[in-house]
Amino acid sequence: MLNTAVKAARRAAAVINRASFDLDRVSVTEKQHNDFVTDVDQAAEQAIIEVLQKAYPSHAFLCEESGTTGNVNDESEFVWIIDPLDGTTNFIHGFPQYAVSIALQQRGVITLGLVYDPVANDLFTAEKGAGAYLNEKRIRVRKQDRIAGALLATGYKNGSPKALDEYLKMYAITAERSHGVRRAGSAALDLAYVACGRLDGYYEKGLQPWDIAAGSLLVTEAGGIAGEFNGESDHMTSGNIIAAGPKVFGQLVGLLTEFA
Ligand code: IPD
Ligand code: CA
Repeated sequence: MLNTAVKAARRAAAVINRASFDLDRVSVTEKQHNDFVTDVDQAAEQAIIEVLQKAYPSHAFLCEESGTTGNVNDESEFVWIIDPLDGTTNFIHGFPQYAVSIALQQRGVITLGLVYDPVANDLFTAEKGAGAYLNEKRIRVRKQDRIAGALLATGYKNGSPKALDEYLKMYAITAERSHGVRRAGSAALDLAYVACGRLDGYYEKGLQPWDIAAGSLLVTEAGGIAGEFNGESDHMTSGNIIAAGPKVFGQLVGLLTEFA
């Protein structure tokens, strides 16, 4: 199934790369304030679904752009969770930080995760119990004991004034105590970067399952922890996530639990 998912991701990446050469021709629609979709997101998603559906006609789908197909719940045998282009805003601007994200959920458990960066040609993959890989090389979270030496990432989606206020408070707390906090604009890549040690930790609130399904498996298979702001493991339901190596995870929960 991982091979098929890789094939699907590469098809989507071909669509994305082709379009990236002529961004003026990309048609952009605003779903909500500062939440964009392009014809490229839609075409990339269709390319992924086509490959997976052909191989697995009975599987269900939960996709960012086309919604659900088939039975999508925690009892479902196979559900593909797809974000065809995570970091759409970056893509529209030619800021090269975006990715294809594909995960497989079996009876409520994520068992396969893939994040593909078509610009860097970085393919991050994980299967439950079998480790995480970057371009077929085993990856692990960084051995970082102290948040004081950590490089962190975060993200923010336009929300209420209360959400913005909360975000700025979280930023101040974490920026003050770490080496720095990056906000690059793709949750899937932020998680993949934690998995391979480019980042020591990541936190964000208000995400969707397709933003974090694949990336959170990458982190846990790389020896890290993904969880809610209070340390519980219901981040897939709440959409609020902290991901890091075990020590930094504990320290981030300590700092951010009041925002759970
Ligand atoms: C967004 C990115 C971004 C995060 C937003 C997401 P999209 O996904 O992951 O980093 O801050 O909350 O919605 O809309 O580009 O697929
Ligand atoms: Ca996304």
